[in-house]
Amino acid sequence: MSFFIAGTGRAMPEKIVTNDDLAKFLDTSDEWIFTRTGIRRRRVLTHERLDDLAVASARAALADAGTAGADVDLILCATMRGDTYTPSLACTVAEAVGATCPAFDLNAACVGVLYCMEVADSFIAAGKAETVLIVSAEAMSKLLDWTDRASCVLFGDGSGAMVVKKGEGRLAGVLSTKPDSHVIRMPNFEGLNSPYNAVEQEKQAMHMDGGEVYKFAVNAMGSRIEDVCARAGLTPADIDWYLPHQANIRIIDASLKKFKIDKSKVLTNIADYGNMSATSVMVLLDEFAKKGTFRKGDKLLFVAFGAGLTSGAEIVAWQR
Ligand code: ACO
Repeated sequence: MSFFIAGTGRAMPEKIVTNDDLAKFLDTSDEWIFTRTGIRRRRVLTHERLDDLAVASARAALADAGTAGADVDLILCATMRGDTYTPSLACTVAEAVGATCPAFDLNAACVGVLYCMEVADSFIAAGKAETVLIVSAEAMSKLLDWTDRASCVLFGDGSGAMVVKKGEGRLAGVLSTKPDSHVIRMPNFEGLNSPYNAVEQEKQAMHMDGGEVYKFAVNAMGSRIEDVCARAGLTPADIDWYLPHQANIRIIDASLKKFKIDKSKVLTNIADYGNMSATSVMVLLDEFAKKGTFRKGDKLLFVAFGAGLTSGAEIVAWQR
C-alpha cells in the first residue's frame, strides 16, 4: 500500500518580471533568454514572505483534499532556505494549519519534492502516517547574484503543495545522487562573524557551470525515466503525462528525445515561471490538475535533476 494524490495547491508572488524588464539592467535580451531556455517571465518576491506563500499553498492543497490540518500525520517541506533557519518552514506551516504532527524540511535542491514523495511513501508503508502534506517553497531571487546574467535570468520564486493519502496510486520511485560540490554551489548567506572563525568566506551567491549542468541534466533525466519505468514494469510509451523539472526547455526536449515521446504528453510552464527549483514540478502539477488535464488512472511521471547533484523520478496514477 502506498499513496495517491488527494489535493494540490499553489501560491505565487504578485510581481511578474519579464525578460525585457531584466534587459533594463543586464546585458541580455528576451531573444537570448527565450531561445536558450524557453523562459519569457518569472514571479519574484517583493513584499511577500516565503513563509506566507508556503502557508497559502498548503491551505489550498488541504482545502482541495477536503482535509483539516489537524488530521495530517506528517508535514514535509522541500526548500533550500526558508525565511528562518529555525523554526523550519515545515513547523511554520504546521502552526498555521493547526497540525501537531512531525514536520521537517528537506533540501534536495530541485528534486526536493520527489525526495519528499519517497519519504511519504516510506512513512505510509511503515504504518507511521496515512495523510502527508508536502509543501515546496523557494525564494530563488534571494539566492542569486543579480549582476550575473548567466544565472539570474533562469530562476523564479513560488510555492506549491500536495496532500497524499494512503492508498493505491504511486507505482514506483527512484532517487539518486552523483555527488559534486562544484558545478552548482550556493554558499550560506550569513557572515561568518564568529571571533574564532578561520575559514575564508565564499562569495555569497550561486555559482553554476551551465554547460556541465546541462550535460548532467540531460543524461540524469533520461536515465531516471528508464529506471523508474523499469521499476514499475512500464515503458516510457505507457506514461500518459510527463511532468519534468522546469529548468530549460532544451534540457526537457533533449532528455525525452530518445524515447520518442509525443510532445503533447510533456507538460511545461517554464515560459511563465522560469526555474523555481523544487517548486517547479509542484506548480506544474497543480496548474494542469486544476485545468482538468488528468483523467482517473492516467499515469503521471515526475522527473527532476538538481544541485548536489541529485536526480529522481516518480510514477503516480491519478486517482481523482
Ligand atoms: N544574455 C545574453 N548573453 C548571455 C547570457 C544572457 N543572459 N548569459 C550568458 N550569455 C552569453 C555568454 O557570456 C556567452 O558569451 P560568449 O560566447 O561571448 O562567451 C554566450 O552567451 C553563450 O553562453 P553559453 O553558456 O554557452 O550558453 P548556453 O547555450 O550553454 O546556455 C544556459 C546557457 C542557458 C545556462 C545553459 O547552459 C543551461 O540551461 N544550463 C543548465 C542550467 C540549469 O539547469 N540550472 C539549474 C540547475 S538546478 C539549481 O540551480 C538548483
